Amino acid sequence: MQVLRVTGGARLAGEVQVVGAKNSVLKLLAATLLAPGQTTISNLPAISDVTIMHELLLRLGCDVAETSDAMIDSVAVNVPECPASEAPYELVRQIRGSINLLGPLLTRTGRAKVAMPGGDAIGSRPLDLHISGLERMGADIRIEHGYIIAESGGLRGAQIWLDFPSVGATENILTAAVLAKGTTVIDNAAREPEIVDLCHMLLSMGAQIGGVGSSTLEINGVDSLHPTTHRAVADRIVAGTWAFAAVATRGDIHVRGANAGHLEIALDKLARAGADVEVLADGFRVRSIDRPKSFDVVTLPYPGLPTDLQPSAIALLAVADGTAMITENLFEARFMFCDEIARMGADVRTDGHHAVVRGKERLSGAPVRATDIRAGVGLVIAGLVADGVTEISEVHHIDRGYVQLEEQLRGLGADVVRIESATFGG
Ligand code: EPZ
Repeated sequence: MQVLRVTGGARLAGEVQVVGAKNSVLKLLAATLLAPGQTTISNLPAISDVTIMHELLLRLGCDVAETSDAMIDSVAVNVPECPASEAPYELVRQIRGSINLLGPLLTRTGRAKVAMPGGDAIGSRPLDLHISGLERMGADIRIEHGYIIAESGGLRGAQIWLDFPSVGATENILTAAVLAKGTTVIDNAAREPEIVDLCHMLLSMGAQIGGVGSSTLEINGVDSLHPTTHRAVADRIVAGTWAFAAVATRGDIHVRGANAGHLEIALDKLARAGADVEVLADGFRVRSIDRPKSFDVVTLPYPGLPTDLQPSAIALLAVADGTAMITENLFEARFMFCDEIARMGADVRTDGHHAVVRGKERLSGAPVRATDIRAGVGLVIAGLVADGVTEISEVHHIDRGYVQLEEQLRGLGADVVRIESATFGG
């Protein structure tokens, strides 16, 4: 089995380039279905989730032409007049983002059959807000044989209040509403930068959307949309991961291509921990010389500290000076990561959606398992600040969200290699 073998001790130093956000790109690709013809999306990350989304679009009858160099891809999606409407289980189960095919397929074709993605390592992840929102717009939705089957003779605008500012539900309702009859208002909408990015692409396709970036989106449906060209927003989670890694290893990283404004709270926490954070025209720079001071973390929807940076934060706090309280407000099982980092000697205790981390001088290398994308990269950071060697298995999780991670880490002076390991039954 392939593992990432991390030898601890290096202070990360140098530059990294951040490309488009996985959690925007998957939805932009789904939204191409809203208009027949060729839509081009650039600044795509060369990650496995994007490849699977391309495969899904091919199954729906689109032509997908990728152009790529090293880390960055662009794709031209040619959408037929009548796309197919079924997204098969074997692909959907691999990436949750594929649930965002529901809105575009339903509003474009009047029918969508999308496999239920099911839960994953971080939580049960229900879809009730997606379904109730589309039902309020007049869709008939039933669950059959593991599939969501949604049908409509023409969606109508509706007033929709979300009990929780769900990213996925906001996106599915938004992409359905752009071609619905009348006006849809989404109250308590999510306002992540990825939602704003999706709105910008839809506006460039001819959609009418008000309140972009706020928690109230007002969408006036139009009869048709046209193809467009769009550059994906930078991945703030990848950028944030580099920032936490810089401070944990007492290093100095210039993160290019990122928008510091999308990471305000995270960068502020790192500055309070003693790091020098400098916002630059093309990104930001994080430098840290001394042992970081501990800080509490509360994960919240945007603009709060993103839950996707929680494992990276815990890896840093495991070697920080002091004790930290972590409150996870989005995903009930996201502390599974703590069981793995505890294997490296981290002093972390969890209770429900709280965790307490008492910082230690150093961790010790051990064989550990990545349980999801963000937990995986959290373990990489822990391995960088541990004595000896850490072997991280299930690296396919990390490949879903990070482009050429070990190459970039080696570029910053780390000793990280991908090998076939005997420890995990190589
Ligand atoms: C998106 O997931 C991201 N995934 C997640 O990133 C991210 O953690 C999350 O937003 C929050 O920022 C993608 O964009 C593909 P939600 P999503 O709907 O849309 C509850 C990563 O590592 N909820 O905002 O699934 C839900 O259970 C991934 O890149 C309902 O109760 O997140 C959760 O507690 C992990 N009913 C909360 O809302 C619903 O119908 C937030 O979920 C929908 C959600």
